[in-house]
Amino acid sequence: MRGMKTLKLEENIYIPQLGFGTWELLGDDCVNGVKKALEVDYRHIDTADAYGNHKEVGKAIRESGIDRKEIFLTTKVWTTALHEQPLKNSIQRFLEELDTSYIDLLLIHWPNKEIPLEETLKAMHDLKSEGLIRSIGVSNFTQKHIEKALKTGINIVNNQVEIHPTFAQFELVEYCQSKNITVTAYSPLGRGADLEIPEVQQIAKKYSASEAQIIIAWLLSRNLIVIPKATNPQRIEENYQSLEIKLSDKDIEKINSLDKKERLIVPAWNEF
Ligand code: A2P
Repeated sequence: MRGMKTLKLEENIYIPQLGFGTWELLGDDCVNGVKKALEVDYRHIDTADAYGNHKEVGKAIRESGIDRKEIFLTTKVWTTALHEQPLKNSIQRFLEELDTSYIDLLLIHWPNKEIPLEETLKAMHDLKSEGLIRSIGVSNFTQKHIEKALKTGINIVNNQVEIHPTFAQFELVEYCQSKNITVTAYSPLGRGADLEIPEVQQIAKKYSASEAQIIIAWLLSRNLIVIPKATNPQRIEENYQSLEIKLSDKDIEKINSLDKKERLIVPAWNEF
């Protein structure tokens, strides 16, 4: 964590720019992955109720022996729990599962037009006032959803969305950043597929780095928060070392030009 850049979310609240993603990490893979990440020096862990691994994340944090205050923990509430009472009940359960007294950043996992956004955000604001969560954010929100959220006057500090070279999301990132909403890139490696792009491979050779490191460095250069997921311990460490890579403007431009506007994650409940 020493030397890791953080982004300001709000007064006295900073998020480490590189985090460890846990989507699809279950059971011992999750406990071991999070422990390895913490050993390597990641201090930002990203999970979600829907990932089914809260208890494993909690266990890994506990067993790491690292002070809870040194770790930034994000989780997400599912689309069916966005009315006030289900949301508040969910958070009580999350805290037990994660074995913690607070969540650093709570996100609405996906927008749900069937449930008034204002009700959800007000409930999150109550949780914040009670100290159970520190910051409020959203995920998979388009510009239209963000515009609606901003109308409530509640401080939204993060939007976590799919971003990788073939789905670069330049417009959405620019919009969010112009509203002081930080953006987190999920599936930053395009679920592994963007590692195969010849231009990325050429740039990787030039820097004596891996393709994953080049992509993560490119995302970091855009002032994004990045949460690569890896099961393999070497990859967990390798991804962390991306922090050392500074790409030239020319190489950043080259990766910018790979955008195909092709989304990989389009579930049935999407509102894109
Ligand atoms: P694994 O979990 O088997 O270690 P994304 O974050 O875009 O969803 O991509 C995750 C996929 O990319 C996983 O299959 C993961 O493999 C793989 N991956 C993560 N880091 C690296 C890396 N440094 N090199 C190659 N593949 C990686």
